[in-house]
Amino acid sequence: MSHWLSAAILRRASSLTLGGTSPSVCPGRKNEKYRSKKSELSEPAAVMAPTLAGVPPLGDEAVRRRNRPAIVSMAQPTGGYAMSESRTLVDAEALRAEVSKKYREVALEPGAEFHFHTGRPLAARLGYDPAIVDPMPDAAVESFAGVANPFELRDLQPGERVVDMGSGAGFDCFVAAGAVGETGVVVGIDMTEEMLVKSRANAEEMGLSNVEFREGLLEDVPVEDGWADVVISNGVFNLCSDKKAAFEEVWRVLRSGGVLQFADIANGRPVPEDALRDIDLWTA
Ligand SMILES: C[S@@+](CC[C@H](N)C(=O)[O-])C[C@H]1O[C@@H](n2cnc3c(N)ncnc32)[C@H](O)[C@@H]1O
Repeated sequence: MSHWLSAAILRRASSLTLGGTSPSVCPGRKNEKYRSKKSELSEPAAVMAPTLAGVPPLGDEAVRRRNRPAIVSMAQPTGGYAMSESRTLVDAEALRAEVSKKYREVALEPGAEFHFHTGRPLAARLGYDPAIVDPMPDAAVESFAGVANPFELRDLQPGERVVDMGSGAGFDCFVAAGAVGETGVVVGIDMTEEMLVKSRANAEEMGLSNVEFREGLLEDVPVEDGWADVVISNGVFNLCSDKKAAFEEVWRVLRSGGVLQFADIANGRPVPEDALRDIDLWTA
């Protein structure tokens, strides 16, 4: 099997240098004010390639088996293109526009047909606790479009500060908000306006004062250096052309000893160059 969907957990070392290149710079970066020092991370070695067409539909049992949690090393070699190369092969702006278009639909028409699973049935298949999910209003769950359960490997602790990279309509942020409690804070980052409108409305309806949603890119996160105890993400790194920049941002916003626990799609085989250039395959 070449693709996997799983959850992984990584702890941020106090000083981490994984390669020799200089940090990525997101063109048109807006969030300079959040950076107080240079990122120490230069190059995570693991490669996450775009999703490819042909992934079979996920039946309940297949989902449970395929999406079981795994612990992976940041330095685990996977073959394929290095992150710094793959980001040059696709037009990042055009890709973001297509991704936003897709997730605008997921926000506005959650009952429509998508090539991925969504909503309460997906949350149940991925093993989210019904005691947490069932009481949530429909609007908080219906646009959920994650690929696994980033909370399976480690329980969030009361008081933790959490950043959700690609927060969509806020489902994982709401799960996190319950776990960290009133002394904790959850900040969701997303680039799609309709998702931000929906997540903010959901938080208000649920009366959650410890959750905030900020407009931003994974490659240019509007959060201060070292602010977060935990970064979570669910199904979003695979949608970024510049994974190196996105992981640099994870490491920048995490405090020393902080944890990245995320779920995503990766490819165990090298991706052909023409596939890396094909935006339809990234969003398919
Ligand atoms: C697969 S959905 C996941 C949403 C949420 N994590 C969930 O599980 O429902 C992808 C979300 O990530 C956002 N997204 C994708 N690429 C992004 C990027 N480069 N920067 C910020 N947000 C991004 C999209 O707008 C969309 O809301």
